[in-house]
Amino acid sequence: MVPADRLYHLPVGVGAVEAVALAHPASTAYLALFTHGRLRAGESVAVVGAGGNVGSAAVVMAVRAGARVIAVASGRDVSYVRSLGADHVVDYRSDDVAGQIRAVAPRGVDVYVDTSGRNDLDTAVDLLAGRGRIVVMAGLRTRPVLPVGPLYLMDRSVHGFAISHADTAQLADAARGINGLLLSGRLRPRATEVLPLSAAAEAHRRLGEGKVHGKLVLRVRG
Ligand SMILES: NC(=O)c1ccc[n+]([C@@H]2O[C@H](COP(=O)([O-])OP(=O)(O)OC[C@H]3O[C@@H](n4cnc5c(N)ncnc54)[C@H](OP(=O)(O)O)[C@@H]3O)[C@@H](O)[C@H]2O)c1
Repeated sequence: MVPADRLYHLPVGVGAVEAVALAHPASTAYLALFTHGRLRAGESVAVVGAGGNVGSAAVVMAVRAGARVIAVASGRDVSYVRSLGADHVVDYRSDDVAGQIRAVAPRGVDVYVDTSGRNDLDTAVDLLAGRGRIVVMAGLRTRPVLPVGPLYLMDRSVHGFAISHADTAQLADAARGINGLLLSGRLRPRATEVLPLSAAAEAHRRLGEGKVHGKLVLRVRG
């Protein structure tokens, strides 16, 4: 049973598979940017892991919200992330990633969202503008160094969240934002492979091997 206050209307014309593939990562991106990162129009945001499920949704949402987006992504994802509207895209394997971000945001970024789980806070804090916000959500076992002086002397902050703790008002807010983008056709899952429920074990294995680029959706009925 799903509580009624956790059900949301899908816009007409949006397919179930598309919605299933997007709901979780896009809600996560929304919570990261707006609920926890408090991103506003005219601000700048660095999205780390921008080619991934959460990161790509974050790029689309931040662009739509009128923010300047600096994306850090895998080299193979650079043109995809650019096509989502990111203003600058940096290959995370290139030299001096922080220097490249600083070059395009010399006064610092207002929000820094790390979906990659790398959580290099030592670098991230220095990339923030005064009152800038870092949002962490991945990298369960990381134990990063936090440069405390540069953090508090500039009113900067670090916020972590897990979507499972989002309340119904926050989720409803995210659903509204996502539906608007679905309707306009701006938000689309990148690569969605549909498998029968009987392939659940194979799907888990592939996910565990880190070989899935996008989403696997299990279809319960033919
Ligand atoms: N806290 C929450 O509520 C919540 C909710 C949903 C998801 N999550 C977590 O969020 C994370 C992202 O999920 P996802 O579905 O978006 O995963 P994903 O599709 O695998 O995206 C992760 C992206 O990060 C990139 N990446 C890896 N190392 C990087 C680096 N050093 N710098 C920049 N980018 C790098 C990856 O590129 P490559 O392909 O080159 O590796 C990939 O594109 C997962 O850890 C997931 O568990 C948390």
